[in-house]
Amino acid sequence: MSQTLPTSGSIRRRLTLQLVGSAAFLASLLFFIVLVFTRDVSQQTHDSILRASATSIMDSVSVRSGDVTVDIPYSALSMLGNVSNDRVFYRVAQDQVLLTGYADLPRPDPLPRQGTPQFETLPYKGDSIRMVTLARRVSLGEQASDLIISVAQTREGQSEQLAQLTRNALQLGFGFFVIAALLAIWTAQSSVRPLAELTDAVSLRGPKDLRPVRRPVPSEMIPLVQSLNRFIDRLRISLSRSEDFIAEAAHRVRTPLATVRTQAEITLRRVDRAENRASLREMIRAIDESSRAAGQLLDHAMVTFRTDSLLREEVDLGALSRDLLKRLRPIAELKDIALHSDLPQTPSLLGDPILIQNAVRNLLDNAIKYAPSESDIQVSLRKEGTELRLSIIDEAGGFPSGDTGALTARFARGSNAAGTIGSGLGLTIAREVVEAHGGQLTIATSKAVDGPPAASPRREGSCVSLCFPLS
Ligand SMILES: Nc1ncnc2c1ncn2[C@@H]1O[C@H](COP(=O)(O)OP(=O)(O)O)[C@@H](O)[C@H]1O
Ligand SMILES: [Mg+2]
Repeated sequence: MSQTLPTSGSIRRRLTLQLVGSAAFLASLLFFIVLVFTRDVSQQTHDSILRASATSIMDSVSVRSGDVTVDIPYSALSMLGNVSNDRVFYRVAQDQVLLTGYADLPRPDPLPRQGTPQFETLPYKGDSIRMVTLARRVSLGEQASDLIISVAQTREGQSEQLAQLTRNALQLGFGFFVIAALLAIWTAQSSVRPLAELTDAVSLRGPKDLRPVRRPVPSEMIPLVQSLNRFIDRLRISLSRSEDFIAEAAHRVRTPLATVRTQAEITLRRVDRAENRASLREMIRAIDESSRAAGQLLDHAMVTFRTDSLLREEVDLGALSRDLLKRLRPIAELKDIALHSDLPQTPSLLGDPILIQNAVRNLLDNAIKYAPSESDIQVSLRKEGTELRLSIIDEAGGFPSGDTGALTARFARGSNAAGTIGSGLGLTIAREVVEAHGGQLTIATSKAVDGPPAASPRREGSCVSLCFPLS
């Protein structure tokens, strides 16, 4: 029954990949936002210190009797030293004239407006520097002139700080990704869990359990469960119809045939003319044949039907065989066949008692049918390891030589079957039943043995066994 269906991917894998992909995208986004934001804040902080330094220098400028004096306060440069150990440069100029500081410090062009600091990042002496420039217009007597103050600092400390910020943002992004990915896996798993639970609930059911699925499921799965329930319902109706049909058909075919047979036998006793008696005998034989064929066809239909959804009940094979032997003894006695049994107590096997009984009955039927009169049939049960072996040994001379396996096919009859009533379904039924229980049917020839007669078969015959695994 189990066949591999074509799959179109896995919902859980798809969901996991999509969620983890989204988590990776969001984590990268978070990394960039945090990086840009913290870099910006760090830059602003650094710039405001540069600006404070430049402002305090600007404040220290005094104009006395037309002369500009600059007295750079210690704090103006030391505040920059507090931030990092980077080198600091400054330049104080009046228009084009350098008053103090580094002459080669670049002069911004155009000059910033008064009161508005101008920030620049530029190369200087082989390093990258951040520079702020403040300009102020002072009046020296009649003429006005521009006082330009630039303060700059190399950016090594800042770069280091930025690298640290990048590392922190990276750690944050990665941490976010790990947590989001774990949540994604958990979400994917919990999203498909109802599907797995439904599958378990349906597949763990017994073969005869055709109740509709009633467990609560997420709303998206309601249409699926509804279709499943409709399907189960149709199956249940159709199965119960077939079961009823088989039982009804068996009854309707067997009963009138039995009546016709009885009538034919009564008539046989009354008529004297030889040709009438012969045709009545022919009629009785035909009735037996058709009643047997109908019975076996229906039995086979029933076996096919029941093996599809095998029942697993505890079956005591010994008791079941004893019961059958008791029922068949009158038929065997008609042929003076002695039925012997060796049926010790064995563990029960799990299976369908009706099917197993049908299988054993067909084998016993065959043994009685093909065995000569005044012969012995032995039925024995053995526990062999993890198997139960029920063997039926007769003195019917064995199976016709050739392919014994082929005789278990449907409607197959052997050369020794000529003149005996049968439809070629007995061994088929026995094999299908035992195979449905995970066991097998074996056919062997039992050799003639010298020794005292009776008790067990001594003449050549067949040994047909049913091997059931003890689960
Ligand atoms: N106990 C037996 N001894 C000898 N031959 C047998 C025995 N059982 C079955 N066979 C052979 O196997 C054939 C198939 O058996 P089965 O399927 O029961 O059909 P049927 O009994 O209706 O002929 C029989 O026709 C017969 O040739
Ligand atoms: Mg048979």
